[in-house]
Amino acid sequence: MVTVPVSLASTPEASYEVLIGDGLLQDLPAILRHRCPAVAYAVISDDIVGERLGATASAILEKAGIRAELFTFAHGEPSKTRETWASLSDQMLARHFGRDAAVIALGGGVVGDVAGFVAATYLRGIPYVQVPTTLLAMIDAAIGGKTGVDVPGGKNLLGAFHQPRAVVADIRALRDLPAEQRANGMAEALKHGVIADAAYFELLEGSQQAVTTLEPASAVERIIAGSVTIKAGVVSADEREGGMRAILNFGHTIGHAIEAVSRFAVMHGGAVAIGMTLEARLAEQLGIAERGTAERIRSAVESYGLPSGLKPALRADAMLAALRHDKKGREGALRFALPSRIGAMARAADGGWTIPVAETDVRSIV
Ligand SMILES: NC(=O)c1ccc[n+]([C@@H]2O[C@H](COP(=O)([O-])OP(=O)(O)OC[C@H]3O[C@@H](n4cnc5c(N)ncnc54)[C@H](O)[C@@H]3O)[C@@H](O)[C@H]2O)c1
Ligand SMILES: [Zn+2]
Repeated sequence: MVTVPVSLASTPEASYEVLIGDGLLQDLPAILRHRCPAVAYAVISDDIVGERLGATASAILEKAGIRAELFTFAHGEPSKTRETWASLSDQMLARHFGRDAAVIALGGGVVGDVAGFVAATYLRGIPYVQVPTTLLAMIDAAIGGKTGVDVPGGKNLLGAFHQPRAVVADIRALRDLPAEQRANGMAEALKHGVIADAAYFELLEGSQQAVTTLEPASAVERIIAGSVTIKAGVVSADEREGGMRAILNFGHTIGHAIEAVSRFAVMHGGAVAIGMTLEARLAEQLGIAERGTAERIRSAVESYGLPSGLKPALRADAMLAALRHDKKGREGALRFALPSRIGAMARAADGGWTIPVAETDVRSIV
């Protein structure tokens, strides 16, 4: 097992650890008693994970004499809504969960975001533990304390910061995860390498076999721990997105535009993979990134079965319109978090972590 601390300077008491190991679900009772004691636990999951792992988790808890009830909702992003949040909260109220209860978020990033938001708001906030079951949730979504739901106006627009008491990543849970979902997670892992750690990126350049077979477990643990360390480092340095957290958006500015223009036909990881390749190309063109950065990213994303180029159907005009729209209401030029090389991000003239880019330059790469 590997343990990665997530320290939060503003609220040291809210600091927690990410536990990564093979078969860790078996240790859930001890982890809960030690890190998130409660009278009862609401285990929140989606239908797919609930069926695969919900019963196992419930049995493990029951055997340890821990009161737990499983609540599930239909899987997928369309369920990440206020309605699901309301329904879960109402069900917990009906079952008399009190302030001495806690939530266990068992599932991918959708479950983590909704269940975390339920925990953040239930009776003005109760503790929770993240038990991520997708690679993406293990290395990205479960870390950082961002919870929330989508609304008709856009993704993740309603939510709260609520830090979990612990994150429990059991790599055994990944065995049934479809290959496409693994690739989705690897896009974010590669992103972590580009923004912060060249040695980690290099490790990933030779880890395709380990990610496919999940063997040896220690190699998979190292990959997840490496990503968690990088994300935790960025989040600790910038808990509420004042500045440095923007580097986590590398590949995402164009990635979000691709998702929007393709109406989400391109998966998030694929969109981010294309976004990283094109944004690195943009950085090279502007003389910000070392030559060869984009090529290394392209080669790495393709080695994990991810796309690296835009489909002809995604027209530059539509992409630019989507890019302008994605600024969450902020004024001014399009801004990008851009690498200076693999393992380091560039700073803007004002010291910030995003760089203003003229539309003509953007147009030349999309
Ligand atoms: N809070 C954050 O900081 C943060 C960061 C990144 C992403 N996110 C959010 O995470 C979500 C995406 O997460 P995701 O990719 O995990 O999606 P997801 O939760 O929808 O999971 C993907 C699919 O895999 C299934 N699944 C989950 N675990 C499985 C397993 N072990 N075996 C087989 N199938 C399994 C799920 O049922 C689902 O159908 C998005 O909503 C995104 O906004 C949040
Ligand atoms: Zn992402």
